[in-house]
Amino acid sequence: MSHHEHFLLAGVMGWPVMHSRSPKLHNYWFEHYELAGAYVPLAVKPDGLEKALRALPALGFAGCNLTIPHKEQALRIVDHADARARRIGAISCVTVNADGSLTGTNNDWYGFVENLREAFPGWWADAGPAVVIGAGGASRAVVDALIHEGTKEIRLINRTRERATSLAHALDGPVTVLDWDKRHSALEGAALLVNTTSQGMVGNPALDLALDALPRTAEVCDIVYIPGETPLLKAARERGNRTVNGLGMLLHQARPAWRSWFDKDVEVTRELRALIEATI
Ligand SMILES: NC(=O)c1ccc[n+]([C@@H]2O[C@H](COP(=O)([O-])OP(=O)(O)OC[C@H]3O[C@@H](n4cnc5c(N)ncnc54)[C@H](OP(=O)(O)O)[C@@H]3O)[C@@H](O)[C@H]2O)c1
Repeated sequence: MSHHEHFLLAGVMGWPVMHSRSPKLHNYWFEHYELAGAYVPLAVKPDGLEKALRALPALGFAGCNLTIPHKEQALRIVDHADARARRIGAISCVTVNADGSLTGTNNDWYGFVENLREAFPGWWADAGPAVVIGAGGASRAVVDALIHEGTKEIRLINRTRERATSLAHALDGPVTVLDWDKRHSALEGAALLVNTTSQGMVGNPALDLALDALPRTAEVCDIVYIPGETPLLKAARERGNRTVNGLGMLLHQARPAWRSWFDKDVEVTRELRALIEATI
């Protein structure tokens, strides 16, 4: 293929998908780096996921991202998946290989860690115990990231305890599961608090969590980013904790995708962050 025929293509498969900020985010990079290409929303129903993924090579797509509800099902469809994606049990990104086969990876853990590093310069994972609230799909990537980065004690708390227990079992790290009613006292001595539940997200009530036991030196991350400051982050900030929302997680998880699709390193610029913030 001659160079001028090489139009770079990727997208995000979800159902629904039109709320996704990913097209705006990735299309910024095409423009910023002056590359001919496009990133499109792909509205794919769950029963059409396999056909849609298998169509990517013929359509000339370099790959795609996956969002709700496809992350787990896609892992079962792709031809190859790295150990991390298998451990997390979900993929967020598919890359089309030269032979047309599909490789799945999970980049959410990477986005989570890079977000913390950017927001809290000097952050290190074994500064002290981490408390993670929630045990859904995103929590699996967060807990895996903390284990991998070297956190020595992770206190995992979920409304539905069994979900936390099975997460801890699958990820096999220094994870202690605590009952939901212990969430307030579990904050004692913590260096990091992460909310991975959907509580505090627009349309949902605030996370019911009293911060009294949390050291003021602890860093607080809410992976929710709509609104930009959840009630949890507001309460933490007002008592002196350093806080960060989930927007950086979204922005940074997109970077490794560009490396695998287009062999290019891309940057989360201030301009990009402002562009996406303006849509929230
Ligand atoms: N920043 C990012 O890049 C990023 C990436 C992925 C996800 N997220 C956000 O993370 C959140 C979770 O996503 P997910 O994919 O993990 O969803 P999920 O798999 O559906 O998990 C939802 C979690 O929220 C908990 N929860 C729901 N309602 C609750 C309530 N009333 N009280 C207490 N806990 C409750 C659930 O507990 P039970 O198990 O008891 O139901 C579960 O732990 C969403 O807001 C999503 O937007 C952000």
